[in-house]
Amino acid sequence: MSSGPAGPATRTTGNPQASELISHLGPADLESQLRRDALRGLTAAKKSIPSKWFYDHKGSMLFDQITRLPEYYLTRSERQILRERAAAIVEKTQAKTMVELGCGLSEKTRVLLDAFQRRGSLTTFVPFDVDGEVLKMAAVELVKRYPEVEVQGIVGDFEQHLGSIEVPGRSLVIFLGSTIGNLNPSERASLLSQLNSSLKPGDWLLLGVDLVKDTATLEAAYNDSSGISAAFNLNMLSVLNARLDANFDVGGFEHVARFNPATEQMEMFLRATRPQKVRLNTLALDIRFGRGEMMHTEISAKFRRSGLESELRASGMEPEFWWTDSGGSFALSLSRKPGGNKAQQKTSYGD
Ligand code: AVJ
Repeated sequence: MSSGPAGPATRTTGNPQASELISHLGPADLESQLRRDALRGLTAAKKSIPSKWFYDHKGSMLFDQITRLPEYYLTRSERQILRERAAAIVEKTQAKTMVELGCGLSEKTRVLLDAFQRRGSLTTFVPFDVDGEVLKMAAVELVKRYPEVEVQGIVGDFEQHLGSIEVPGRSLVIFLGSTIGNLNPSERASLLSQLNSSLKPGDWLLLGVDLVKDTATLEAAYNDSSGISAAFNLNMLSVLNARLDANFDVGGFEHVARFNPATEQMEMFLRATRPQKVRLNTLALDIRFGRGEMMHTEISAKFRRSGLESELRASGMEPEFWWTDSGGSFALSLSRKPGGNKAQQKTSYGD
């Protein structure tokens, strides 16, 4: 990857031998972004709030519980593919550096790191996340488990700070968990082309994506019987209450999760069960909800091979491998930035 406009960054060296954290985002940046997003989203004709604000500490813990729900097949399916294909990924990519976008606690990533450890080609791991606390926790663990790998954490928003990742040698960027599904098609196009331009010819991108399937299975994954998905969605209101000094009545809203077959995405909303007025002190703003009014909180796009591979090609990447779990629920797509090593270079995108 090459360097790009990075903006001011602060650098803290924790363990001088093995772990370093570079921060592009301070708490003040996040607060001003949240204020901007909330003002725009909550005063629009159709109310919405970007899904990235789900993840305060409680939100991250609830998501972690979601990943272990019987209905939420995504995490298990992806882990199965990673276990089956980790050795192939190591062998195909020969990566020296692995960058992980939105890594969280990097649990599934260990499957890959273990495979790299057995083969010994990886020198550097760059976990990239908006949450500095999560990164520090992840880095402490990683340094213990993989003492031979240098950990360079980056606190940033991958929609803004991708250009700032600068790594030597063959690199592999991984973006797992179908997190890319939280972006709409135009946001995905811009992320993929930014990624493509920050990669060197011959570098790799591993994407984990959830696949289109029957509506009942999809809707159950986002509306589980134990109510954890509902609690996760409703926690957005607690986040807004805490961070914007607001007074949303969490009991006055209900969780809605629907599959939209036209756009092939799950759509999550919070629906007001009665008319209400909410005060957001930090924004000096009062908003009203009518009975049944919905506030949009998240999309989770579901993919087909053909669609995802055209999106990748449109960004300049060349999809080379497609692996699914045994149930065909979830896929890993491994693409390469064309150029570099002539032997591996393809002359046309078609097959
Ligand atoms: C973390 C974005 C992959 O879309 O499946 C889970 C988030 N939202 N249940 C997803 C989520 C509701 C999750 N991602």
